[in-house]
Amino acid sequence: MKNSFYINTKLVGLIGHPIKHSYSPFINNVAFQIKGLDYIYLPFDVVTDNLQSALKGIVSLGITGLNITIPHKEKIIEYLDELSEEAAMIGAINTVVNEQGKLKGYNTDVNGIIETLNPFKNDIAGKCVSVLGAGGAARALVFTLIRHFKPGEIVIINRTEQRGDTLANYFIEKMKFENIKVKELFPPDLVDVFNSSKLIVNASAIGMYPAVDDSPTDIKESFTEDQIVFDMVYNPRETKFLKVASEAGATALSGLTMLVRQAAKAFELWTGEELPVQKVTRSLELILSK
Ligand SMILES: NC(=O)c1ccc[n+]([C@@H]2O[C@H](COP(=O)([O-])OP(=O)(O)OC[C@H]3O[C@@H](n4cnc5c(N)ncnc54)[C@H](OP(=O)(O)O)[C@@H]3O)[C@@H](O)[C@H]2O)c1
Repeated sequence: MKNSFYINTKLVGLIGHPIKHSYSPFINNVAFQIKGLDYIYLPFDVVTDNLQSALKGIVSLGITGLNITIPHKEKIIEYLDELSEEAAMIGAINTVVNEQGKLKGYNTDVNGIIETLNPFKNDIAGKCVSVLGAGGAARALVFTLIRHFKPGEIVIINRTEQRGDTLANYFIEKMKFENIKVKELFPPDLVDVFNSSKLIVNASAIGMYPAVDDSPTDIKESFTEDQIVFDMVYNPRETKFLKVASEAGATALSGLTMLVRQAAKAFELWTGEELPVQKVTRSLELILSK
């Protein structure tokens, strides 16, 4: 980077609450350094009551863009000027771009999910997929499954069954995909559902640091050698859920690829440049292993 004394430095960042757990500042700042781009990425802890004024600040201060995390991914939509087609379908965003004073929302979790599951596209088509969770991540997942992976059936499993129903009804209505069932999260009753699923995805927060001993299920018989099991949780890298699935012989996919790939898409939207995926992943693996 040229010694510009920060006169031309562009600012991007993250808003959410809480945000201390986030690896996004690390990912983006490492990438800016590797690429020699004059940008800086900062986290902003913003509570819901301050969300609208924070967004006005983006425009006034000329901030290039933001990532959006829990709990603002859905609420923020009402304050934006425009949405990408995918974000409008999903009803949740994780990235904002300041386009000459107009704020446009995107959902780059979709890109992270596609990059993670693409090698298994033919295996998933026409088969049953179990989705654990019914929050923002599950929304992006269900949309991406229906649009890109064409499963035969989706089973949404959530602690709060009513939230699962709301999600299912939303996609039945929005994408005309009728084959969605909802189940309450009660592991002993789910063994058969899991057994009949080709793909099982944990899109809930269960097992995320510091609650590393938690798992959506620890029943080994839930898994088979033919299955693909994807945990969106990336910290720890191998969750208890993935460990049990691996021990049963299933193909286990951690949330790390999704994390880096969703960041890569946002990076590209802000800078027009590619994020150096391999180098950033290696740096991230190093800090996650400490
Ligand atoms: N790898 C990536 O790039 C990536 C991207 C996005 C998200 N994620 C991860 O995905 C997870 C979900 O994120 P989100 O944005 O969807 O969050 P969210 O909107 O807050 O939803 C959280 C979901 O987890 C469930 N849940 C939370 N704690 C639980 C517990 N103790 N027992 C049972 N269920 C529990 C909630 O169930 P209720 O409805 O019953 O509350 C809800 O379904 C997080 O771990 C996040 O880090 C990863």
